[in-house]
Amino acid sequence: MNILRQLSELRNTLTNQRKKSLTIGLVPTMGNLHAGHIHLVEQARKEADFVVCTIFVNPMQFGKNEDLDTYPRTFDADCEKLNAAGCNVLFAPTVAEVYPNGIDAQTIVRVPGISERHCGASRPGHFDGVSTVVCKLFNMVQPDTAHFGLKDYQQFMVISRMVEDLCIPVRLIGETTQRNSSGLALSSRNGYLTQDQAQSAPALYIALQEAKASLEAGVALGQVMDQAKVQLTSHGFDVDYFNISHAYSLEPATDKDDQLVILVAAKLGTTRLIDNIRVSVSR
Ligand code: PAF
Repeated sequence: MNILRQLSELRNTLTNQRKKSLTIGLVPTMGNLHAGHIHLVEQARKEADFVVCTIFVNPMQFGKNEDLDTYPRTFDADCEKLNAAGCNVLFAPTVAEVYPNGIDAQTIVRVPGISERHCGASRPGHFDGVSTVVCKLFNMVQPDTAHFGLKDYQQFMVISRMVEDLCIPVRLIGETTQRNSSGLALSSRNGYLTQDQAQSAPALYIALQEAKASLEAGVALGQVMDQAKVQLTSHGFDVDYFNISHAYSLEPATDKDDQLVILVAAKLGTTRLIDNIRVSVSR
């Protein structure tokens, strides 16, 4: 695996691959790689001839009081995992390489509507940072396919809308959330949990599964959301939101919608966890 830090080196390398008519798959990450990320690399290898992974802890998507400084950075271990997974190039640029004019002067890509609800409401500016950096990475790599985990369901929908609106020629692939044996979605932030919190954390996915079953059994939307919030609170969660939404617009679901997604964000102590589940109901 080739480790590159500069955009000029990345462009040279990728030009050579394109001359050989190889297709390029991109896996954007912020590092601290776990089995979920490696699954993305493996899927990218199936879809494309040449796989580029990026590690960049993007300051633009962190709020002022968020965990930018403490976000886990495990570069050497990440390189080993990527190498073993068959990644061809790791692009790990500095902040100055990605934002040469400074973050405050950076052109912003803002996806209206879909980025404003759920995590967008709780983390103002977060999705502007995500869509801006992902748009830049797409322009840097010009991949044929790009692979994202569906644990970040809203992020995937925001990026999908950006790709559509800006006519970016990339095929987006959302990959199934990887979970540990107790159902907890794999996330770099799981590492912040204390032992006690780690024992409570699986209740998040259990609440999603039970809410899905209730919706399928015809229980009213409001009742399902209320029950889930009570249940999560009893397990020590501070619930930010537990929303039942239309699966594609992410607008609040109505009784007529049949393609739904349940999105949750809740804190255990200072650690904010998110998860989601898709539901199809027959109306
Ligand atoms: O999901 C992530 O790890 C990040 O939001 C992403 C897509 C790499 C952009 O920084």
